[in-house]
Amino acid sequence: MRVKYSSLSFQLSRWDYSNLTHMKTVVKRNIDKGVPLDVQFNDIDYMDLEKDFTIDPINYVGLNQFYEELHAGGIRTIIILDPAMNADNKTYQPTITGIAEDVFIKWNDGRLMKGACWPGEVYFPDFFLNQTQKWWARWIKDFRTVHLTFDGLWIDMNEPALFGTNEAAPWNWNYTGSNYTLKCPVSYWDDPPYRTKAVYRYDTADAHFSRLSDHTLCMVAPQGENRLYRHYDVHSLYGWSQTKPTLDALQSITGKRGLVLTRSTFFGSGQWGAHWLGDNEASWHDLKRSMIGMIEFNWFGIPFVGADICGFDKIPTEELCTRWMQVGAFYPFSRNHNIWKTPDQDPGYWSDNAVQIMINALNIRYTLLPYYYTLFFKAHTLGDTVIRPLFHEFSTDPKTLDVYLQFLVGSALMITPVTDNNTNEIDVYIPSRDWYDYYNGKQIKVNKETIKVAAPLDTIPIFLRGGYIIPTQQPANNTKYSRQKPFGLIIALNSKNNAHGELFYDDGDGIDTIEQKKYYYATFNWHGNLRKLTINVIENNYLDMKNLKLDTLHIYGLNKKPKTMFVNKKHQVKYIKFKPKTKILIVKKLNLDITKNHTIIWKN
Ligand code: NOJ
Repeated sequence: MRVKYSSLSFQLSRWDYSNLTHMKTVVKRNIDKGVPLDVQFNDIDYMDLEKDFTIDPINYVGLNQFYEELHAGGIRTIIILDPAMNADNKTYQPTITGIAEDVFIKWNDGRLMKGACWPGEVYFPDFFLNQTQKWWARWIKDFRTVHLTFDGLWIDMNEPALFGTNEAAPWNWNYTGSNYTLKCPVSYWDDPPYRTKAVYRYDTADAHFSRLSDHTLCMVAPQGENRLYRHYDVHSLYGWSQTKPTLDALQSITGKRGLVLTRSTFFGSGQWGAHWLGDNEASWHDLKRSMIGMIEFNWFGIPFVGADICGFDKIPTEELCTRWMQVGAFYPFSRNHNIWKTPDQDPGYWSDNAVQIMINALNIRYTLLPYYYTLFFKAHTLGDTVIRPLFHEFSTDPKTLDVYLQFLVGSALMITPVTDNNTNEIDVYIPSRDWYDYYNGKQIKVNKETIKVAAPLDTIPIFLRGGYIIPTQQPANNTKYSRQKPFGLIIALNSKNNAHGELFYDDGDGIDTIEQKKYYYATFNWHGNLRKLTINVIENNYLDMKNLKLDTLHIYGLNKKPKTMFVNKKHQVKYIKFKPKTKILIVKKLNLDITKNHTIIWKN
């Protein structure tokens, strides 16, 4: 998908802020404490009785005004929309118009199929139908125009997930499963002869054998144009069928690239939406699993993915949340979110020490945003992954097959988080030569070996791979401001003293910037033996790029400080600092116009 630049930032969410006052408190404490924050979410509690396209008239009065304040500070807003529409055909206009326009999933005899979900008895729109897509787009547009100026949409429960399905599904908030009456009629499609273990289990709570239609629509429901499919045929495409119409609707109202976050996906969803890994728990186990899920979804072509940081269900300890914020800072989709009726867990909630550690991790992410953005350009145009397991890059090394607690961001960066409590040191597998400690530049002098790495609570170990150049930008508390800061290059040399990298950049939210070539693209090459760094601008059609400078180089792997450095053969570089212990050469205040080609040469 075309990732919006600001969506690559840190995002904050929770189900049940309870009211706007508390939501404001949470946002404020994070901003006040200096937590980088770009996107603020609202879950179903902003709605009136959990009905789409409504706002709680008691607890969220003034929400739109607050959104305007957030926008002024560069923060984007995203609201949740569930597909299920309240089955009130007397007063609820989205349903009244939906029935008139024939948008809902029905039984074969034409009666509407009822289900139970938020906000009670509901009907499900059939997003395969043109009329449904139009109706959905119109309601999104009306709601945004009249009520709430959101920037992105979060579509949930779109497996579709139901609490029960039948004509007269009794809705009960306190449903415990003890009186299971919500059955679909017995049919070949709901009870097929070949039973898979994944679906058919004995449900002890409900005292029945589970069926295909449990917690979703009846499989016999006809769907699609001329109702040619059964729900059985297209069940797994429900979220897929909702994602593109939602993105189209969003982009047509805002005129900008939009973020649609969807829980249900299928192959192809990645071109339209981001994904979070669903309801996890605040446990070390789920922190570990998030890395596997993130890698898998990159393979599925859905690279904009992340897990609920600090866990959705259950209550994290400060240590777990701190470690999870550290790893979550490197998820492509980086959002802290939790379930209702649990305490807050946003960064600002924790102790000063913990919040500072979280900020430090997020600042590294913000520094690396141009690198992430360039990876997303490649994912979009070439189908590349953004996050990779080691064996993706080192496929001939069988030892990498078992490494699942380390991951790569592109080819150039390896993240090795702490995934257990009370841990100050971790084992890290080094899959090749020429890796460097991100923090202190130390060259890791082993190859295909596991080493011990210090990882006190304030540190998430990160390694740079020799042979790569990573474009960076100075961090700020928000991408609105970080996008105005100077660029830098992190240059990590391989054993031949070479390195290569690239940078893609554009306005961050134009819809067709690639098709219209309204972007900037440059390559960077460090030729150690020629003692030369070249900066080659390939595309230069993002006009605001001329306001940005390339200011700093961090070079890892040089043996000594060059005697002199020259830019374009003429201007001697003044601010060169070599740290002999770590061998990082820092070149500052270059002040180069990044839209021009440059050559930097040096003499030893
Ligand atoms: C289920 C989603 O997975 C979760 O993230 C959300 O908070 C709840 N629905 C409530 O909307």
